[in-house]
Formats: sequence, structure tokens, C-alpha cells
Amino acid sequence: MRIIGTGRAHPSKIVTNAMLEQFLDTNDEWIKTRTGIAERRVISSEKLEDLATEAALKAIADAGLTPKDIDYIICSNVVSEYITPGLSCIVQGAIGARCACVDINVACSGFVYALDMADDRIKSGKAQNILVVAAEEPSRMVDWSDRSLCVLFGDGAGAVVVSHGEGMICSRLTTESKTDCLYYVRNLEPTPYITKEEYGAPMYMNGKEVFKTAVLSSSRDIKRLLDKAGLHPADIKYYVLHQANMRIIEAIANWLKLDMSYFPHNVDYCGNTSSASIPLLLDELAKGGKLQKGDKILMSAFGAGFTTGACIIEWTK
Ligand code: COA
Repeated sequence: MRIIGTGRAHPSKIVTNAMLEQFLDTNDEWIKTRTGIAERRVISSEKLEDLATEAALKAIADAGLTPKDIDYIICSNVVSEYITPGLSCIVQGAIGARCACVDINVACSGFVYALDMADDRIKSGKAQNILVVAAEEPSRMVDWSDRSLCVLFGDGAGAVVVSHGEGMICSRLTTESKTDCLYYVRNLEPTPYITKEEYGAPMYMNGKEVFKTAVLSSSRDIKRLLDKAGLHPADIKYYVLHQANMRIIEAIANWLKLDMSYFPHNVDYCGNTSSASIPLLLDELAKGGKLQKGDKILMSAFGAGFTTGACIIEWTK
């Protein structure tokens, strides 16, 4: 497969660190030093499906296609107002496409998993033009009185259209069931028969554990992919990494002995937008004229599960 179009949509509300100081015992200095985040975009009046639809339509237009040309939609999403139907079904109706749709929930690694699935589907000849949308609102998973978590996240939607071509060089997906360091549990409806104990609570994260696991797993994935592709770290034009924390990105840059010009970022003004962070950044690079035909891009993500997804693509647009 190759990427032939990109798009993105941000919520209108910008929440700065100073705004958080008004109701949390926190400060700009702590947040910037520990995470690199200065502000984030957070859903207020919008619906997540509207952001997903906007990003999708932009990606389809950028690809020079119409929604009728899309023959499969994969939507990466952790939470939205709907449990069912999936966000992909809602986006399909909103853009006026007619095709099979599927939602996946692989936490922050979802976009890379979706690209890998799209690659397989195109290779098998089952689809021609696939829309991949990653739409996330992690701001709705955290307790906004918990300063250790709510400062970290932002919302948004990024999309790509992929088609037949030679853009995917290699990919690597891993999952290691480790459910105690990052989770969000919701209460289901009661029934007259439930006898077990259940609870729902906002997101829980063991930040230090996730930090360590993220740096180690992403570094491992990057090394394996570079070896597999026979590339040196400096052969990659951009490392488009999951945007969780600037310190994680800097640790990986140090480990690769590369300067930060290889590591574009949006975590400073978007926060951690979960699986939307990579396609948001990719669209920004593409629209900003930063990508040339033949550039190699390495994407690497990690998330709850614990899951990781990484791939090297060649920019062919
Ligand atoms: N403002 C001010 N102080 C805060 C704070 C905030 N927003 N949040 C936490 N603190 C305090 C803590 O209460 C603690 O105080 P104490 O020492 O008096 O107990 C102190 O700051 C240090 O907290 P700690 O959790 O040790 O900080 P840290 O250096 O580990 O940074 C994270 C916390 C969350 C920024 C960091 O662990 C991290 O980024 N982890 C990875 C998260 C991630 O990538 N998640 C996404 C996965 S997809």
C-alpha cells in the first residue's frame, strides 16, 4: 500500500497550562518540564464523529478521490459517546461512502495496526482505496481533578487514504498482556442477575512504569525495523513517534544518537491524542511541505495492552 492522502481535525477549544492552574494544584513549569506539553486541544461543543468526518473528508479530497471510491474504512478509536455502532459506521454515513467498515481498539498503537491491516487487505486484492481514521477523545477518560493525568491528554482526529503501491517497507506489531499499568474501566448496565462485584473508574496509569516500557519497547521496535530494512538511523527522514511525552521522544532520539530535527512533534500543543497523534503529525508534515517523494518515515507507537506498532514507509506522493 501507499498513502495517497492525509487529513486532520482539531477541536476548537485550546486549553493552556495556565488555564489548568486555575482549578488544579499544578503549574506550567511542572507540566512543561515533565512532559513538554504547553497546551492541548480538548473537545467542548464538537462531537468526536464530526472531527473524524472532517479529517476523513480532507484525506479523501487530498487523495483526489470521492467518498464513493472508498471501499473499506478502518477506524481506530478507544472511546467515543457510542459503544455501538462503531465510529467507522458513523463516519461512513456522514461522508456518504458505501463499503464495509470496522473499528479497532488497540489504544495508542491503533493507527499503525490499522495501516498494517490496510496493507494486508490491499495486498490480498480485497480493497483498492482504504480510509484509515484515528479519532480519539482521551480527555473523556480521565478524572479532571487528578493533576497527574488530565494534564497529559488532548483530543483530535487524523486520517489517511491508502491505495495500491510500494509504500510499506516493513512493519512490526507486538502485544504483551499487561493490563495493570494503564486501564480505564466503565460500568455496564445492571441486570437482575449480576452477582459479581463490578466497578467503573476513570483512567488509571502507572506513569513511571509506562514511561519505562514505552522507551524500551519503541527503541526495540525501531532497531528491529531498521535492521530488517537494512537502513541506518540517519537514512530515515522523520521518526513520527506516538506523541505521549517529549521526554520519551528525547530518550529515543538520544538512544539513536540523532538530533531532534529527525523527530517532529505536536505533543507540545496537542497533548497526547492517543492513536490520532501519528496521523495528525503526518498530515501536518505533508501539508507543511516537509515530505518529499522517496523520503523514508518510521512510525512507532505504544499503548495500553501493552501494545506496540511500528512501520517504515516510503513517501510516494
Ligand atoms: N502538577 C504538579 N505536580 C504533579 C502533577 C502536576 N500535574 N502531577 C503529578 N505531580 C506530582 C506528584 O504528585 C509527585 O509529587 P510527590 O513527589 O510529592 O509525590 C511528583 O509530581 C512527581 O510525580 P511523578 O509521577 O513521579 O512524576 P514523573 O516524573 O514520573 O512524571 C508523568 C509523570 C506521567 C509525566 C510520566 O511518568 C510519564 O510521562 N509517563 C508516561 C506516560 C505516558 O506515556 N502515557 C501514555 C501511554 S500511551
